[in-house]
Amino acid sequence: MKPHTVKPHTAQTILITGASGSIGNALAKAYAAPGTTLILHGRNESKLEQTAQACRAQGAQVVKGVFDITDTNALQNWVREIDALHPLDMLIANQGMNINIGPEGKGESWEQTNLLIDVNLRASMAMVHAALAGMRKRGRGQVVLISSLAAYFGLPLTPAYSASKAGLKAYGEGLRGWLAPEGVGVTVIMPGYVKSDMCDAMPGPKTLVWSPEKAAKVMKQGIDKNKARITFPFFVSFETWLLAVLPASWSLKILKIAGYHV
Ligand SMILES: NC(=O)c1ccc[n+]([C@@H]2O[C@H](COP(=O)([O-])OP(=O)(O)OC[C@H]3O[C@@H](n4cnc5c(N)ncnc54)[C@H](OP(=O)(O)O)[C@@H]3O)[C@@H](O)[C@H]2O)c1
Repeated sequence: MKPHTVKPHTAQTILITGASGSIGNALAKAYAAPGTTLILHGRNESKLEQTAQACRAQGAQVVKGVFDITDTNALQNWVREIDALHPLDMLIANQGMNINIGPEGKGESWEQTNLLIDVNLRASMAMVHAALAGMRKRGRGQVVLISSLAAYFGLPLTPAYSASKAGLKAYGEGLRGWLAPEGVGVTVIMPGYVKSDMCDAMPGPKTLVWSPEKAAKVMKQGIDKNKARITFPFFVSFETWLLAVLPASWSLKILKIAGYHV
């Protein structure tokens, strides 16, 4: 069978993590409609409930999961239980955190680095493993991994975050090639800056910050077409892609001039 022959389908049961955050909230609302079941995950119960209420008001059925996503055993058991009750059409692994080297470049603590890898990379891979069993058996489904434009070239202010997002990008690309003949689509999303608490806390200059709603609209359009990669905004996407293809020594100089340095 030819690779990448997955036909886009209408997703009706969608699991979205990080649904208590800005992008997750906007994504949930972008998909909320009568006939849709949204499985929304987060830790902050009141923020998650705000997302849930907005989605219910749009006619969706909502199921919530509230626990720390770094508990991978609990996470995988939960995903399997959800899939048994509500067979998943789509999994959007959107949860994430960021750390940085600090204003004086002291560096990232190992404790925080470890936690970041658990949240951004390990939890996403654990969820994919748990969700794939059902999707592969049914011969359909869509996995969406929220990476970042920081995945193209490691940013000196946020090395661990860049590494986690590069890991997600590579994982998604590999999964896509493997799973296409089985009818399971995989999309990697690499956003530029989107207004959120995480974005506000990030160091370095920020150009072309999008609203979560605008970002969610572009994400949904691309996911619905089973695109392999969704990047935005175009200009920042092109700049960061260029960093990956230029000699690394040039890219580091460019990043220094651009202010992504202590
Ligand atoms: N905003 C940007 O500029 C930007 C750019 C590129 C990529 N991204 C990616 O987009 C995704 C969403 O980020 P955002 O901008 O919407 O940030 P956000 O508003 O800060 O949301 C982050 C979400 O991740 C969840 N989360 C973090 N740690 C968790 C944990 N241990 N257990 C369970 N959930 C956890 C948070 O849940 P609680 O708050 O309930 O703990 C929250 O829902 C992230 O993967 C981020 O890396 C964002």
